[in-house]
Amino acid sequence: MRDKIKIYINNKEFEGNLNETILDVAKRNSIHISTLCYHEKIKPHGACRLCLVEIKKQSKSRLVASCAYPIENDLLVFTESPRVDEVKKNLTELYMAIYPYHPEIIKLAKKYNITKTRYHKLNEYCILCGLCVRYCAEVKGLNAIGFVGRGINKKVTFVPDSSYFKHCINCMECSDICPTGVFPSNFGIERIPQVSDS
Ligand code: SF4
Ligand code: FES
Repeated sequence: MRDKIKIYINNKEFEGNLNETILDVAKRNSIHISTLCYHEKIKPHGACRLCLVEIKKQSKSRLVASCAYPIENDLLVFTESPRVDEVKKNLTELYMAIYPYHPEIIKLAKKYNITKTRYHKLNEYCILCGLCVRYCAEVKGLNAIGFVGRGINKKVTFVPDSSYFKHCINCMECSDICPTGVFPSNFGIERIPQVSDS
């Protein structure tokens, strides 16, 4: 028999299994939490922070990435607290500067009534979530792509000390997994997102 874990999301009781995350339980119970860098086949990395929720334990509270945080008994989780909203408003503005076309970003911008961003707009579209890199390594068992550079120069590219043809099998699955559709357009293959007028 599997151990059951009792948690509370927005003051309602839910049951989860050992090794499940807050996001797993929320998804199974149709509680919406925004995500950008989550993929069910890949170990969560907490990269985009869009899935932040507030947790309370022993009268202490903090924000955690729900996609990576394992559930524990009697954990109190709040998906829409003032603290969560404050950080998510800021993240929404940040992602609006990088990739405003993602459905989650559009939804959050509407929710928080944000029409413009204070951040400098980029034309890169890569949110550096690392999904393509992790997918290539974890699911395909290859290491064809990786991060290079630091800070504002950080980017995804084919692993510099290896040849593209040596590691890449040209499956193009990295392009399907990329939440912004940018990869691998940076390598000359066009996957530029469509801007909707609606
Ligand atoms: S190319 Fe796409 S999947 Fe890869 S890090 Fe950038 S946004 Fe994420
Ligand atoms: S979806 Fe959890 S950090 Fe990106």
